[in-house]
Amino acid sequence: MLKNKIVFITGASSGMGKACAEAFAALGARLIITARRLDRLTELAENLRTHHAIDVLPLALDIQDNIMINQVVDSLPASWKTIDILVNNAGLAHDTKPLQEGSPTDWDTVIDTNFKGLLYVTRAILPSMIARGAGHIINIGSTAGRAYYAGGNVYCATKHAVKAITHCLRIDLAGTPIRVSEVDPGITRSEFNEVRWQDKARADAFYEGFTPLAPEDIARSVVFCAIQPAHVNIAEIMLFPTDQNAPSMVTRKGEMPEAGVLR
Ligand SMILES: NC(=O)c1ccc[n+]([C@@H]2O[C@H](COP(=O)([O-])OP(=O)(O)OC[C@H]3O[C@@H](n4cnc5c(N)ncnc54)[C@H](OP(=O)(O)O)[C@@H]3O)[C@@H](O)[C@H]2O)c1
Repeated sequence: MLKNKIVFITGASSGMGKACAEAFAALGARLIITARRLDRLTELAENLRTHHAIDVLPLALDIQDNIMINQVVDSLPASWKTIDILVNNAGLAHDTKPLQEGSPTDWDTVIDTNFKGLLYVTRAILPSMIARGAGHIINIGSTAGRAYYAGGNVYCATKHAVKAITHCLRIDLAGTPIRVSEVDPGITRSEFNEVRWQDKARADAFYEGFTPLAPEDIARSVVFCAIQPAHVNIAEIMLFPTDQNAPSMVTRKGEMPEAGVLR
């Protein structure tokens, strides 16, 4: 079903984006994998070509940069232009400080990536999907887009924004066959918390005492959205680790359930 479909993934150099690339590759899709760290993408592309005998196009892309996005999309080789599936995955958080202690520079990065970057990439790719009458946008949101937790302020706001865009985009695309889905993960072990806190020891300690989701768990949900028949649009999937009881509550072994886990 996905054989030779072209899948464009943002943030494929790590975590869920990389796992999505592996999952789509296993089903024979052709992949455009993007992120800022081209060295990692090049290595991933080599592995995917070797193990799955598929075409992979690794491209350096900073989704905060709308000019770069348009250059990258406009200069895709002819055989890569007909993107079937866009996975808007790239995203990050910076810190978990209360707003009154937060850094406006960090806020800009989070807003420019999670919210504006997703808009820019979608704006660049969607018109060709509409023109061809085929396409599927799959946004990676978060349980942070459905709730509020201590220190979540700007990150939660960007993921609420992603949810609003997912809903509104489906309305904008009324009368077209283009599908729009959102996958909202709970706590997932990736580089996310290392980026968030710039402190590997703190990030590692965060995952102690419970079993977080793995990036592959999210990739399975993304693929589930993508393999439905054309008349089925999976609107949203939300996943928690079994040990996570609510967006701001995780139960660690031997401890009482703890709220405000991200602090
Ligand atoms: N981990 C969690 O607990 C969790 C839970 C819910 C939702 N999420 C969401 O899941 C998505 C993936 O996160 P992850 O957990 O897989 O984290 P990750 O391992 O840190 O991966 C994040 C990816 O985003 C890319 N990225 C960051 N800024 C970018 C930019 N300006 N331009 C292009 N790519 C950029 C990174 O690549 P480069 O640095 O190479 O550019 C990396 O490939 C994010 O949207 C995140 O908000 C994460």
